[in-house]
Amino acid sequence: MKMKKLVLGIALAALAGLSSAQTNVKFNTSALEKADTQVVFINSLDALSGKAAELDNKTNGRLSTLLELNDFKPEKGNAMHFQLLAGFDTVLVVGVHDGDGLDAPELQDIGGVIAAQLSATTKNVNAQINIEALNTTVTGAGAFIASGYYLRNYSFDKYKTEKDEGISNLTIVTESADSASDMYNNDLVHVAKGVHMARDFATEPGKSLYPELFAKQIKQTFRGLDNIDIEVLDVKDMRKYNMGALMGVGKGSVHDPRLVVIEYMGGEKGEAPIALAGKGITFDTGGISIKGNTGMWAMKSDLSGAAAVAGTMYAIASRGEKVNVVGLMAMAENMPSQDAIRPGDVLETMKGTTIEIMSTDAEGRLVLSDAVYYAQQEYNPKLLLNIATLTGSAGRALSDEYAALITRSFDYSTEIMEVGARSGEHVWPLPLHPNHFEQIKSPIADIKNSGAGSPGASIGAAVIGTFVDEELPWIHLDIAGVDWLESDIDVAPKGSQGWGVRFMDQLVRDHSSK
Ligand code: BES
Ligand code: ZN
Ligand code: MN
Repeated sequence: MKMKKLVLGIALAALAGLSSAQTNVKFNTSALEKADTQVVFINSLDALSGKAAELDNKTNGRLSTLLELNDFKPEKGNAMHFQLLAGFDTVLVVGVHDGDGLDAPELQDIGGVIAAQLSATTKNVNAQINIEALNTTVTGAGAFIASGYYLRNYSFDKYKTEKDEGISNLTIVTESADSASDMYNNDLVHVAKGVHMARDFATEPGKSLYPELFAKQIKQTFRGLDNIDIEVLDVKDMRKYNMGALMGVGKGSVHDPRLVVIEYMGGEKGEAPIALAGKGITFDTGGISIKGNTGMWAMKSDLSGAAAVAGTMYAIASRGEKVNVVGLMAMAENMPSQDAIRPGDVLETMKGTTIEIMSTDAEGRLVLSDAVYYAQQEYNPKLLLNIATLTGSAGRALSDEYAALITRSFDYSTEIMEVGARSGEHVWPLPLHPNHFEQIKSPIADIKNSGAGSPGASIGAAVIGTFVDEELPWIHLDIAGVDWLESDIDVAPKGSQGWGVRFMDQLVRDHSSK
């Protein structure tokens, strides 16, 4: 017992802390005399403006000559470094041209481009960014640039003997320095931290992040935040609620499942909350329906949905959003063993509906079925969202660009697509047809968990949908294709994206009573 405690302590200590790459941001109304790097934006080559124009004048047209010699195109995201110019070690030129003006996610993308460019050249960045040449109507544009930088400046190096201890010191020069600083420090940076947190959880190997530890880590991370209450249901509690689906998935593992419920009550007392439920499979081997080895290692990130819920709860609690939200994380490890559930077994859920197991690899819908039902019974939410790396099918349909969005009505889906567009995390609708519910009828139980063929993403949603009140606004997000990427994007290095934190944060903002 003592030994076990000690081991837990070590594992927890090792897990604590976000990415070791640091981003420090200051906002100033006037430019500093000295900075190693000066970042300038270029909207049009015909008429340099802002700091680019100033540097060009100061160097007797040298900057425009360099741009011409190097055939620089000012399209959004293009970047070039010029060394030893106008008294700076480096001038980083970034194209910001965009037909209809830059929106908030595009500003974050540009911040991400800057982070990628600067960290590729120096370990410690000391840069000044003048934002006057940006073609945007977004208030607090500098704050969005900074948050994009923060998002991109991430590295998971806890298992490397040589850490990435680079520090980025940024000064954003903007007329509205005070309000941009306020927006960054009291709002956007918390969202970016939530994203990093989600990436940390999704990247952590399964060996050191099983349900018990995941739950402990969540409790530790949220310590000290206002209006937060965390409850951890273990197997004993699950038995009380008859959560046979969640318990069934966890049965093959030596590590018991958990259901972690984070309540954040920052809104009106008694007002119905939003419920966010995430799939938290700490490792998905497939169970008895075991997966092939190719790519199985990436199933350490099969808890990305739950990780995104945690990151979102962290962000909204740190921001102090005036809203009530409950985050549920359905945690289990899907392992094959003599105790594991078998294909053909029948599980009884908390709702009472029975599920015949066609594939033990279709486990995400099982853990979520009990989680979403529990959320409705306990909290009577006004909106229910579930998020999961649920099906390869979603990834094949929509690739990297969109998470699959499934709701009960196309109109509602188009409304939710807008939330995605404003957050920078895009979703695209897939259907949910009465036939999909027909397809999951079982000959010996109420429903079956798969084996119904195509379309896989919709079938998965139909299983979960069976446990969601038809009158309740319901959003199903399948992030299997978007959370783990093989190459970098502007706001994230390759690997886990922490996908869903920005989306859910935006959704919650839209429901805030502020
Ligand atoms: N965790 C997987 C889905 C997944 C696949 C996530 C690829 C990320 C990348 C999920 O549990 C799963 O195994 N789904 C099966 C469902 C099938 C058995 C009905 C799938 O998609 O093949
Ligand atoms: Zn899975
Ligand atoms: Mn699976």
